[in-house]
Amino acid sequence: MPKDRTKISKCLFPAAGYGTRFLPATKAIQKEMLPVLTKPLLQYGVEEAISAGIETMAIVTGRGKRAIEDHFDVSYELEHQIKGTSKEHYLTEIRSVITKCTFSYTRQIEMKGLGHAILCGETLIGDEPFAVILADDLCDNNADSVLAQMVKLYEKYRCSIVAVEEIPPQDSNKYGVVAGREEEDGVLRVTDMVEKPDPKDAPSNLAIIGRYILTPDIFDILRETKPGKGGEIQITDALLAQAKEGRVIAYKFEGRRFDCGSVDGFVEATNYFYNKNRV
Ligand code: G1P
Repeated sequence: MPKDRTKISKCLFPAAGYGTRFLPATKAIQKEMLPVLTKPLLQYGVEEAISAGIETMAIVTGRGKRAIEDHFDVSYELEHQIKGTSKEHYLTEIRSVITKCTFSYTRQIEMKGLGHAILCGETLIGDEPFAVILADDLCDNNADSVLAQMVKLYEKYRCSIVAVEEIPPQDSNKYGVVAGREEEDGVLRVTDMVEKPDPKDAPSNLAIIGRYILTPDIFDILRETKPGKGGEIQITDALLAQAKEGRVIAYKFEGRRFDCGSVDGFVEATNYFYNKNRV
C-alpha cells in the first residue's frame, strides 16, 4: 500500500543545545537526558509521540554526546545481568518504547538556532508533514496527550499548528508570542508572531510551547530565513511566512506543561510526577 503523505508519522526532536542552565550536569549528556524521577525528558517526549500514533523518531543531536543513541538501544550487558532477577521490571517501559518505534539521528554541526536545527532534520523527515517536540517542555494530560490533540486538529486544518498557553505578560521575552483570530473554541488562525518580544511589543499573552506540527514547505522557508532574535535562525520567523498566508493555527491545549529548561520548572515537574505516581 502506498504511504499516506498526509498522515503525521514522524516526530523531530531537536536536542543539540548546550543546556547551559544545567551545567555541569549537561557537560557530557544532553539536557533532554536529564531525568524527571527515573525517566529522561526525551523518553517522556517519545512516549507522547507514540501516544499520537507516531512511530518514527528523528533526533537532531550535537557533538560529543552519545547518551541518546545508547538510551534508545538495547544494552546487551545490562539485559544479561538482570535477566530473570527481581530488577528486570525496571527496563519494561524503555523496552516497550524501543520495540514500538524506530530512531534516526543527524547532527547539527553549528548551533545556529531552533529553526536551523529543524532544517537539519529535513534529511530525516523528507517531504511530509511532521511533528516537533522540544523535550524540555514536559507536558502531561490525563486524557489525550498534547501532541495527540494536535494530530487530531491537523486532520481538520491541514496546516502548521503551534501549541500555545497564556503567560504572565512580563514573561513574553522567553517565548515566541502569537496573535490571531478565533476559529473555534481554543483555536486561532495566526496573523502575527514574534520571537521573544519585550512585554511592550508582545502581540498578546499567548506563548508558543515546544509542540509543533509543520508542513514540509517550512524547510524551503527556513533555507531563506535570515538570522533573527539573538542572531539565530528562528522557527517563529519561518512560521510567520506561513501565517501571512493564513496557514498557521495556534491551539490552546488541554493539560499541564512544565518548563524543564529552567531549574524551577524542573523541580516543579519532579514534584508533580512524584505526587502523581505515588497515589
Ligand atoms: C524556543 C522557541 C520559542 C518557544 C520556546 C518554547 O525557545 O524559539 O519560540 O516559545 O522554544 O519552549 P527556547 O526555549 O529554545 O529559547
